[in-house]
Amino acid sequence: MPSIESDFYAAHARQYLRFVHDKVQSVYADSTHPDIASDSDMLKHLRGKIRPGSRGFDAGCGPGAPDVHEFWRHGFDIIGVDAEEHAIDLTKEMFPEIAPKVSVADLKEPLGYPEQVFDFVISKTVIQHLDPDSVKKVFLPEIARCLKLDGVLFNLFKTGTGVKTVYDADYGTDRTFQLYEPEEIVVMLDDLGLEVIPNTDDEPGGVITLVDPKPMEHCVIYARKVR
Ligand SMILES: C[S@@+](CC[C@H](N)C(=O)[O-])C[C@H]1O[C@@H](n2cnc3c(N)ncnc32)[C@H](O)[C@@H]1O
Repeated sequence: MPSIESDFYAAHARQYLRFVHDKVQSVYADSTHPDIASDSDMLKHLRGKIRPGSRGFDAGCGPGAPDVHEFWRHGFDIIGVDAEEHAIDLTKEMFPEIAPKVSVADLKEPLGYPEQVFDFVISKTVIQHLDPDSVKKVFLPEIARCLKLDGVLFNLFKTGTGVKTVYDADYGTDRTFQLYEPEEIVVMLDDLGLEVIPNTDDEPGGVITLVDPKPMEHCVIYARKVR
């Protein structure tokens, strides 16, 4: 089965890259956590939960691989994959400094990495393109397998039930996304030995919800592999 909206990024890769660069669509409203209102906040607080220079994997890095680039600039040893070949080609063209770090792979298939190789994994607005069966039986189990004990998964996803089509004014087109309830993701993670990192005075955690400009509800979860 192809990914949900699998043709969108081929058609809009350059525009996506420009929007990411200009931070269009990466600022949110109604966050349940005062310190998390943008993609930058989310990634800053991921860095607050991992060791400097540690090893990461960006699952579905997107055109321009913005988060691979950001973590690489901060001195992390990070790689990224995306199913869309054009997104990877464009990343290599625009950002040759991270070209060796990005490659094509389908997250509905097992990852070709050994067990426990990554200290952290980024899954940022990616499971919205994966059907629930693939997320439950392949994607999350593979992430859990490849994370080291004590490693951290950052997962940003669209919330709700079923599939939803909305008009995206920034792209001038309808878009269709797979939604997930935060509780179902928490249960799946727990079954795989990953626990939600709780909120503390020092670092945001727990189940954080917010709304993007489309508007669509999202959830942020940081989870640690504990067993
Ligand atoms: C909304 S973009 C997010 C990109 C990036 N994580 C970011 O936050 O900017 C979703 C990305 O997931 C990729 N994707 C969708 N289905 C995929 C799959 N089955 N395997 C790998 N990547 C996939 C798309 O090609 C797209 O680049």
